Amino acid sequence: MSFRLREFRPEDLERVIFINRTCLPENYTRGFFLSTYRSFPDLFLVAEVDGVIVGYIMCRIERSIWGLGGARGHVISIAVMPEHRRKGIGTALLREALSRMAERYGVGECFLEVRVSNTPAISLYEKLGFVRKTVLKGYYLDGEDAYLMSKSLSSFAS
Ligand code: ACO
Ligand code: ZN
Repeated sequence: MSFRLREFRPEDLERVIFINRTCLPENYTRGFFLSTYRSFPDLFLVAEVDGVIVGYIMCRIERSIWGLGGARGHVISIAVMPEHRRKGIGTALLREALSRMAERYGVGECFLEVRVSNTPAISLYEKLGFVRKTVLKGYYLDGEDAYLMSKSLSSFAS
Protein backbone atom coordinates (compact mmCIF):
# COMPACT_ATOMS: atom_id res chain seq x y z
CA MET A 1 0.00 0.00 0.00
CA SER A 2 1.42 3.37 -0.94
CA PHE A 3 -0.07 6.78 -0.40
CA ARG A 4 0.84 10.24 -1.52
CA LEU A 5 0.29 13.62 0.08
CA ARG A 6 -0.72 16.74 -1.78
CA GLU A 7 -2.37 20.06 -1.03
CA PHE A 8 -6.15 20.23 -0.82
CA ARG A 9 -7.98 21.65 -3.83
CA PRO A 10 -11.52 23.11 -3.73
CA GLU A 11 -12.84 20.20 -5.83
CA ASP A 12 -11.82 17.86 -2.96
CA LEU A 13 -14.30 19.50 -0.60
CA GLU A 14 -17.14 16.95 -0.76
CA ARG A 15 -14.76 14.03 -0.18
CA VAL A 16 -13.05 15.79 2.74
CA ILE A 17 -16.45 16.60 4.28
CA PHE A 18 -17.41 12.93 3.89
CA ILE A 19 -14.22 11.81 5.65
CA ASN A 20 -14.70 14.39 8.41
CA ARG A 21 -18.30 13.20 9.03
CA THR A 22 -17.31 9.54 8.88
CA CYS A 23 -14.46 9.94 11.37
CA LEU A 24 -15.34 12.73 13.79
CA PRO A 25 -18.28 14.29 15.63
CA GLU A 26 -16.69 17.73 15.17
CA ASN A 27 -18.02 18.85 11.79
CA TYR A 28 -17.62 22.17 10.03
CA THR A 29 -19.47 24.16 7.42
CA ARG A 30 -18.33 24.21 3.79
CA GLY A 31 -17.53 27.87 4.31
CA PHE A 32 -15.22 27.10 7.23
CA PHE A 33 -13.26 24.48 5.25
CA LEU A 34 -12.94 26.83 2.29
CA SER A 35 -11.99 29.92 4.25
CA THR A 36 -9.34 27.98 6.15
CA TYR A 37 -8.03 26.67 2.83
CA ARG A 38 -7.94 30.18 1.34
CA SER A 39 -6.05 31.55 4.34
CA PHE A 40 -3.51 28.70 4.62
CA PRO A 41 -3.63 26.63 1.41
CA ASP A 42 -0.29 24.97 2.15
CA LEU A 43 -1.45 23.75 5.59
CA PHE A 44 -4.50 21.87 4.28
CA LEU A 45 -3.22 18.52 2.99
CA VAL A 46 -4.83 15.34 1.74
CA ALA A 47 -3.52 11.77 1.47
CA GLU A 48 -4.44 9.72 -1.60
CA VAL A 49 -4.40 5.97 -2.19
CA ASP A 50 -4.87 5.02 -5.84
CA GLY A 51 -6.08 8.54 -6.57
CA VAL A 52 -8.76 8.46 -3.86
CA ILE A 53 -8.51 10.76 -0.85
CA VAL A 54 -8.44 8.72 2.37
CA GLY A 55 -7.29 11.34 4.88
CA TYR A 56 -6.74 15.03 5.46
CA ILE A 57 -5.22 17.53 7.86
CA MET A 58 -6.43 21.13 8.15
CA CYS A 59 -4.40 23.68 10.09
CA ARG A 60 -4.01 27.40 10.52
CA ILE A 61 -1.61 29.88 12.03
CA GLU A 62 -2.92 31.94 14.92
CA ARG A 63 -1.49 35.19 16.14
CA SER A 64 -0.43 35.52 19.73
CA ILE A 65 -3.08 36.72 22.16
CA TRP A 66 -2.33 40.08 23.85
CA GLY A 67 1.14 39.94 22.32
CA LEU A 68 2.20 37.06 24.58
CA GLY A 69 4.42 34.58 22.81
CA GLY A 70 4.72 34.26 19.07
CA ALA A 71 2.25 33.04 16.47
CA ARG A 72 1.39 29.37 16.82
CA GLY A 73 0.31 26.59 14.51
CA HIS A 74 -3.08 25.02 15.25
CA VAL A 75 -4.11 21.59 14.01
CA ILE A 76 -7.85 22.10 13.55
CA SER A 77 -8.71 18.63 12.28
CA ILE A 78 -7.01 15.44 11.12
CA ALA A 79 -8.69 12.20 10.05
CA VAL A 80 -7.90 9.00 8.15
CA MET A 81 -10.58 6.62 6.88
CA PRO A 82 -10.94 3.56 9.15
CA GLU A 83 -9.76 1.03 6.55
CA HIS A 84 -6.54 2.99 5.98
CA ARG A 85 -5.47 3.53 9.59
CA ARG A 86 -2.23 2.22 11.17
CA LYS A 87 -0.37 2.60 7.89
CA GLY A 88 1.49 5.77 8.78
CA ILE A 89 -0.82 8.15 6.91
CA GLY A 90 -1.75 10.19 10.00
CA THR A 91 1.94 10.48 10.92
CA ALA A 92 2.86 11.60 7.40
CA LEU A 93 0.09 14.23 7.27
CA LEU A 94 1.00 15.64 10.67
CA ARG A 95 4.76 15.63 10.08
CA GLU A 96 4.36 17.44 6.76
CA ALA A 97 2.05 20.05 8.29
CA LEU A 98 4.41 20.63 11.24
CA SER A 99 7.41 21.00 8.99
CA ARG A 100 5.53 23.52 6.79
CA MET A 101 4.47 25.51 9.87
CA ALA A 102 8.09 25.71 11.01
CA GLU A 103 9.74 26.33 7.65
CA ARG A 104 7.18 28.48 5.82
CA TYR A 105 5.59 30.37 8.71
CA GLY A 106 8.45 30.32 11.21
CA VAL A 107 6.22 29.42 14.14
CA GLY A 108 7.92 27.96 17.20
CA GLU A 109 4.99 25.99 18.55
CA CYS A 110 2.00 23.96 17.43
CA PHE A 111 -1.06 23.13 19.51
CA LEU A 112 -4.28 21.16 19.22
CA GLU A 113 -7.20 19.93 21.29
CA VAL A 114 -8.14 16.25 21.52
CA ARG A 115 -10.82 14.32 23.42
CA VAL A 116 -9.38 12.80 26.61
CA SER A 117 -10.82 9.42 25.49
CA ASN A 118 -9.19 9.52 22.03
CA THR A 119 -6.31 7.12 22.67
CA PRO A 120 -5.33 6.59 19.01
CA ALA A 121 -4.97 10.31 18.33
CA ILE A 122 -3.23 11.03 21.66
CA SER A 123 -0.77 8.20 20.89
CA LEU A 124 -0.04 9.68 17.47
CA TYR A 125 0.52 13.15 18.93
CA GLU A 126 2.77 11.89 21.72
CA LYS A 127 4.76 9.86 19.23
CA LEU A 128 5.45 13.09 17.34
CA GLY A 129 6.47 14.90 20.52
CA PHE A 130 3.30 16.67 21.61
CA VAL A 131 2.81 16.96 25.37
CA ARG A 132 -0.39 17.43 27.36
CA LYS A 133 -0.43 21.02 28.63
CA THR A 134 -3.78 21.22 30.37
CA VAL A 135 -7.32 19.85 30.48
CA LEU A 136 -10.06 22.01 28.95
CA LYS A 137 -13.12 21.06 31.02
CA GLY A 138 -16.28 20.41 28.99
CA TYR A 139 -14.61 21.56 25.79
CA TYR A 140 -16.80 19.47 23.48
CA LEU A 141 -20.53 19.96 22.85
CA ASP A 142 -21.33 16.63 24.53
CA GLY A 143 -19.45 17.73 27.65
CA GLU A 144 -16.28 15.67 27.20
CA ASP A 145 -13.01 17.28 28.30
CA ALA A 146 -10.13 17.99 25.91
CA TYR A 147 -6.41 17.84 26.41
CA LEU A 148 -4.68 20.93 25.10
CA MET A 149 -1.49 19.48 23.64
CA SER A 150 1.47 21.34 22.21
CA LYS A 151 4.79 20.72 20.59
CA SER A 152 7.79 23.00 20.24
CA LEU A 153 8.82 23.34 16.61
CA SER A 154 12.12 25.09 17.28
CA SER A 155 14.04 21.88 16.73
CA PHE A 156 11.62 20.33 14.28
CA ALA A 157 13.24 18.21 11.60
CA SER A 158 10.99 16.72 8.95
N1 ACO B 1 -4.31 2.67 19.26
C1 ACO B 1 -3.13 3.02 19.79
N2 ACO B 1 -2.20 3.78 19.16
C2 ACO B 1 -2.52 4.21 17.93
C3 ACO B 1 -3.74 3.88 17.30
C4 ACO B 1 -4.66 3.06 18.02
N3 ACO B 1 -5.85 2.69 17.48
N4 ACO B 1 -3.77 4.46 16.09
C5 ACO B 1 -2.61 5.14 15.95
N5 ACO B 1 -1.86 4.98 17.06
C6 ACO B 1 -0.53 5.54 17.32
C7 ACO B 1 0.52 4.46 17.19
O1 ACO B 1 1.61 4.83 18.02
C8 ACO B 1 0.88 4.59 15.73
O2 ACO B 1 2.13 4.08 15.43
P1 ACO B 1 2.27 2.49 15.09
O3 ACO B 1 1.19 2.14 14.10
O4 ACO B 1 3.64 2.39 14.52
O5 ACO B 1 2.08 1.79 16.39
C9 ACO B 1 0.90 6.08 15.58
O6 ACO B 1 -0.21 6.54 16.34
C10 ACO B 1 0.79 6.56 14.16
O7 ACO B 1 -0.28 5.92 13.50
P2 ACO B 1 -0.64 6.28 12.00
O8 ACO B 1 -0.83 5.02 11.22
O9 ACO B 1 0.33 7.26 11.44
O10 ACO B 1 -2.03 7.05 12.20
P3 ACO B 1 -3.39 6.80 11.37
O11 ACO B 1 -3.14 6.98 9.91
O12 ACO B 1 -4.02 5.54 11.81
O13 ACO B 1 -4.26 8.07 11.85
C11 ACO B 1 -5.77 9.13 13.38
C12 ACO B 1 -4.44 8.38 13.22
C13 ACO B 1 -5.78 10.34 12.43
C14 ACO B 1 -5.89 9.64 14.81
C15 ACO B 1 -6.91 8.14 13.03
O14 ACO B 1 -6.98 7.15 14.03
C16 ACO B 1 -8.28 8.79 12.89
O15 ACO B 1 -8.64 9.29 11.82
N6 ACO B 1 -9.08 8.78 13.98
C17 ACO B 1 -10.43 9.33 13.95
C18 ACO B 1 -10.40 10.83 13.80
C19 ACO B 1 -9.67 11.49 14.97
O16 ACO B 1 -9.79 11.09 16.11
N7 ACO B 1 -8.90 12.55 14.66
C20 ACO B 1 -8.16 13.33 15.67
C21 ACO B 1 -9.10 14.25 16.40
S1 ACO B 1 -8.23 15.56 17.29
C22 ACO B 1 -7.85 16.72 16.05
O17 ACO B 1 -8.27 16.57 14.94
C23 ACO B 1 -6.98 17.90 16.41
ZN1 ZN C 1 -8.53 23.40 17.89
